[in-house]
Amino acid sequence: MDQLKTHEKIEKHAGWMGVLIAVAVSFGGLAQIIPLMYQAEAVEPVPGLKPYPALELAGRDIYVREGCYGCHSQMVRTLRFETERYGAFSVAGESVYDHPFQWGSKRTGPDLARIGGRYSDEWHRVHLINPRLVVPESNMPGYPWLAERLLDPAAIQSRMRVLKRLGHPYSEEDIEQAAQALSGKTEMDALIAYLQGLGRHAPKGG
Ligand code: HEC
Repeated sequence: MDQLKTHEKIEKHAGWMGVLIAVAVSFGGLAQIIPLMYQAEAVEPVPGLKPYPALELAGRDIYVREGCYGCHSQMVRTLRFETERYGAFSVAGESVYDHPFQWGSKRTGPDLARIGGRYSDEWHRVHLINPRLVVPESNMPGYPWLAERLLDPAAIQSRMRVLKRLGHPYSEEDIEQAAQALSGKTEMDALIAYLQGLGRHAPKGG
């Protein structure tokens, strides 16, 4: 009887009801979020995973700058029709050197997590300049200017230094050689190198 009365009081008092709902919900939230935080710490890179080579890293920055993620996800879900279309489903350990990761969920175009090696460099070049030349019904925009702009080797070196500080295992040698790896290369070369590397560390079989 007393219990019922307390309940009735709370129900009739919007302020108390609000506070107690907030407490109940935050417990629920904590129960879900805290274990995830510990798991994220425990996420190990998949075997053989290395940070992006300089040219691919530069390409990845261009991918982000041009907003390719607005139409393309990079995460194959654990559903049969996805793995049949794209390949092995994505695992967190593939993305530990992705800051920020490009999983996304918007798919105006296909998922790109496993695109590496599916087409030739030349196909990508033509497709990025004008997608309609290879896929007539495509509504993807063209990016012809990428073929005309040279990369800035100094910028990628400072980028690699920052990533090293964040825990990416780049050696001083990697950073030194980056300037050479980028010299004379266009933004198009870098973006294609990045695309061709996507899925390199996909789990086998799937
Ligand atoms: C407005 C949406 C849109 C944007 C932005 C966009 N794409 Fe696309 N993309 C598409 C569509 C739609 C397709 C499928 C038709 C085609 O192949 O062109 C596609 C296809 C592709 C393919 C071939 C995928 C396959 O499996 O055949 C690649 C690679 C690609 N895009 C890369 C890029 C890159 C890199 C960028 C950024 C520079 C980009 N896209 C920006 C819509 C977009």
